[in-house]
Amino acid sequence: MINFGKVLLRKSQISLDDIRKFMSLPIDSTDEDIPIYSYDENVKIMSTYDLEQSIKHIPIKDQVIHSIAHIEYNAMKSYIDTLVRFINQVPAQFQKEFKEELGQIAYEEFCHFELITQLCKYGSQPVHNNLQKRMILTMDSLLGRIAVLSIVNEGRGMDTGLNLIQKLDGDNKYEKVIKKIVQEESNHVRIGLKWFELLCKDQNPQENFITLMNNYQIPKNWKINVQKRKQVGFSDEWIKCLQNWS
Ligand SMILES: [Fe+2]
Ligand SMILES: [Fe+2]
Repeated sequence: MINFGKVLLRKSQISLDDIRKFMSLPIDSTDEDIPIYSYDENVKIMSTYDLEQSIKHIPIKDQVIHSIAHIEYNAMKSYIDTLVRFINQVPAQFQKEFKEELGQIAYEEFCHFELITQLCKYGSQPVHNNLQKRMILTMDSLLGRIAVLSIVNEGRGMDTGLNLIQKLDGDNKYEKVIKKIVQEESNHVRIGLKWFELLCKDQNPQENFITLMNNYQIPKNWKINVQKRKQVGFSDEWIKCLQNWS
């Protein structure tokens, strides 16, 4: 059987048909050799420092929009990767639900990418690969992957997303798209939190989370939006944990 998820990880540009096919086919992850996802072939990867230098002449709002296109591309590939790499580690009775929910998120990230690339050409600016590096960091741990992808990366987007509006110079077209995307990301965080807690089984989720962050040396360098976190299901213990994590 062809592992279509693996095909998608290697593919540079993904179409709606690809995503539909991925969602409808069973996932075979018995194969050990799962590649780390590739980027769009038109995209130039740079270090964060070189990137900042090379785009500083570009208006801030265009930098923001392009960076969001890159975030959406990474998010889509990361959820495909998580499904292909880890589905067999999810308890059998939950695999169907895991596939449906993460497949749906991958589809929504695809839609976000399509929406944002109506406003900018992906690859017209260089990008960094910090998000991909975090996926490599967590390629051996399902719990670590969900923590980093959903609670940290997506969570940060939810916490800080609307601050981006201030950088858009009052551009309504950009604003409308970003507001829609930020709203949908909240549900991704909610689903990530659900799976993280479920996969922790009898272990304390907050303690597990802090241990993972320390192991991966992931710092918290933004402000937690308590109201938003509570809206998507973070308990008081979680809020305390996220606020004390540094
Ligand atoms: Fe997204
Ligand atoms: Fe998302």
